[in-house]
Amino acid sequence: MKAIEIRNKYLKFFEKNNHKIIPSASLIPENDPSVLFNTAGMQPLVPYLLGEKHPEGSRLTDYQKCVRTNDIDEVGDNRHLTYFEMLGNWSLGDYFKEESIAMSYKFLTEELGIPNEKLSVTCFKGDEDCSKDTVAYECWRKAGIPDERIYFFGKSENWWIAGEEGPCGPDTEMFYDTGKTKCSPECNPSCDCGKYVEIWNNVFMEFYKDKNGYTKLKQQNVDTGLGLERMTMLLQGKETPFEIEIFAPVMEELERLQKVDNIQSRRIVTEHLRSSMMIINDGGRPSNVDRGYILRRLLRRMTRHMNKLEIDLSELGNIIDISINSLKELYPELEKNKEIIKQVIIEEKDKFIKTLKNGEKEFEKVASKVKNNGKIIDAQSVFNLYETYGFPPEMTEELAKENGLKVDMENYQKLFEEHQAKSRMGSEAKFKGGLASTGEMETKYHTATHLLNAALKVVLGDHVHQKGSNITEERLRFDFSHPAKMTDEEKQKVEDLVNEYIKQDIKVEKLEMKKDEALKLGAEAMFLEKYGEEVTIYKIGDVSLEFCGGPHVENTGVLGKFKIKKEEASSAGVRRIKAILE
Ligand code: SER
Repeated sequence: MKAIEIRNKYLKFFEKNNHKIIPSASLIPENDPSVLFNTAGMQPLVPYLLGEKHPEGSRLTDYQKCVRTNDIDEVGDNRHLTYFEMLGNWSLGDYFKEESIAMSYKFLTEELGIPNEKLSVTCFKGDEDCSKDTVAYECWRKAGIPDERIYFFGKSENWWIAGEEGPCGPDTEMFYDTGKTKCSPECNPSCDCGKYVEIWNNVFMEFYKDKNGYTKLKQQNVDTGLGLERMTMLLQGKETPFEIEIFAPVMEELERLQKVDNIQSRRIVTEHLRSSMMIINDGGRPSNVDRGYILRRLLRRMTRHMNKLEIDLSELGNIIDISINSLKELYPELEKNKEIIKQVIIEEKDKFIKTLKNGEKEFEKVASKVKNNGKIIDAQSVFNLYETYGFPPEMTEELAKENGLKVDMENYQKLFEEHQAKSRMGSEAKFKGGLASTGEMETKYHTATHLLNAALKVVLGDHVHQKGSNITEERLRFDFSHPAKMTDEEKQKVEDLVNEYIKQDIKVEKLEMKKDEALKLGAEAMFLEKYGEEVTIYKIGDVSLEFCGGPHVENTGVLGKFKIKKEEASSAGVRRIKAILE
């Protein structure tokens, strides 16, 4: 049975049982700033589990797109996925344990055709917060599951809550017996040796937990979740989800294209590509914060593993086509949004590969230093790899692991936070200083600085970001992220380009808008934190768009001739240019 057939059977079955089919919510939660992505079918339904009336009634069913990010680094083994689809049915104060279990059993055995002998179940064994779930037990007995396949466990196995606080309750879980031999005489569904695979979780949500403990909800709810990819894999008799029709065509294409064989890398590329596409499809974009950062990590890890397989990165567009083709029955919207999905992924890949080579060289340098000396990469090096080469620290960690090394993540975190605090302070001080002197030459140098920043990006790449700036009557000084000394040719190109912008006599426009709008337009900011909600940005034709307090000249033509006097190192991964206007 294909995934789409399982999904359709599920929704139809519950529809037949008087449930309303509701659409999947976006992966990006609408009213819940506490999570980056929807991680379970119940998440968009929390207000209704707490008692609010749902417009579609008290019996609902859907498929929900989910992303769980705890295990990104585990992807590559035979089971972990970051994106997955959860099929669910809900009772919002309607039916409870009896009907829920009866329907689950019927669906599994009659609709999916799973033999009774293949099923084991677990129930809550009881503790000081909630008594033993003898009702669920009786329901399973009545359905036909014998005693020896009903297990009782405590909160660690049979209690469900999203995070620390919220609606929750005891659950009953259904397991599929793959037929493997028990790993030990004690082997049971709580063991993850692979004999028992969890297929469905029915949570009996009648409690609310907060920091003071548990209270009873107004109503008794049922929240269930069945992982589509896993069920498909089991019904098809496959060992991993990567063998089912959702993933197999991409896995095969990667195998055809690869010059180096590595199944983990093929899985990582296949899985991260699908997750990224689903996130982009729901409006996510790569960035350095929150969900944008998760997307960036996924895409960068994917790119790195394509490199490990030695697959030509120009194949990415074709691989995306194949992936969308195998997913479009489930998600027709991917086909519709194909061009934008491709554009975002390929742009991020291009950004990354520009610095990847230098970054890998730098990593090797750092690694060889510690190889025979402690085997731990220090926090500062991890930080530099991130700031200068765009290596997410988790990626440095993964690379280190591949080389038998460790990284000092704890101190990295401290360093990162210190750095952020410092740049906030520095920017405040600089901001004040900048307003103090506004003579004619300084004004010109301000504008020239924007042109230089833009030209550096064109010549060296998008990794160039302003790291500092200082202006006097006589010169500008500009610090920017770049891993290597600039060649004479690069310097010449930058100088020529700035002079070209000057010659074009481009209008310099001051625009005022909301910070969000400015970011949407792609305006560049050195220290975003220093700006309030209303911001000023300066636009120089198509050349430059930057957050800035000014002041600036009105047209670039008045600047004269731009000349680079010096290019030197400022600090690790940061270069400094001194330039004049003649
Ligand atoms: N919320 C439960 C889970 O995620 C059941 O849907 O497993």
